[in-house]
Amino acid sequence: MSDNIHPIFEQLVSRKEREQFLNQKAHVYWLTGLSGSGKSTIAKGVERELFNNGFFPQVIDGDNVRTGLCNNLTFSLSDREENIRRVAELAKLYCNSGLIVICSFISPTINIRELAREVIGKEDFREIYINTPLALCEERDVKGLYKMARAGEIKGFTGIDSPYEAPIHPDKEILTATQTIEESVFEIYSFVTLESQMN
Ligand code: ADX
Repeated sequence: MSDNIHPIFEQLVSRKEREQFLNQKAHVYWLTGLSGSGKSTIAKGVERELFNNGFFPQVIDGDNVRTGLCNNLTFSLSDREENIRRVAELAKLYCNSGLIVICSFISPTINIRELAREVIGKEDFREIYINTPLALCEERDVKGLYKMARAGEIKGFTGIDSPYEAPIHPDKEILTATQTIEESVFEIYSFVTLESQMN
């Protein structure tokens, strides 16, 4: 079937033109970490900071896409992989439109994040580990899900009875336990703007 599909990329406005228009260089910043680690809060903060400073960012967030694009997927490892495959394809499209993309997904295994890197392309993919100890995520338990997982009311919860494999060589690691949200946001914002500015 794919033999009859002819992508028309060369006829479209190029990524370079789009980046010049937006006056920024596009990449995908992939935030991985446990549920409740602060990924989404930090992603939103970075997006706002970038936008307020003249950049054009876009957050893609697990809790959001799981109500739409990925609303037919569970939290089994194979469905998580499909979740990440879809959002990585979406991130790639946004990136090719010249946007600074910030993805916020548990993306729990090394293999799953490798898949995202392969789909997006290693030149565009940056892995950012939001490192918050499980005990702290569980203590905060913002959504009350850890309590439910411990009570056996949710099966296959990341960090409880489903694996989380920390990145080994992330491009950036944020230790949230020892700093404020504002500090975490600023750390990522600085990292992003270093390579987003047009020369
Ligand atoms: S991923 O594993 O496929 O990357 P994703 O980031 O999209 O996960 O979604 C994670 C969010 O879904 C969590 O922050 C939490 O609110 C919710 N959730 C519901 N069930 C689970 C579960 N079994 N494991 C982890 N998160 C869950």
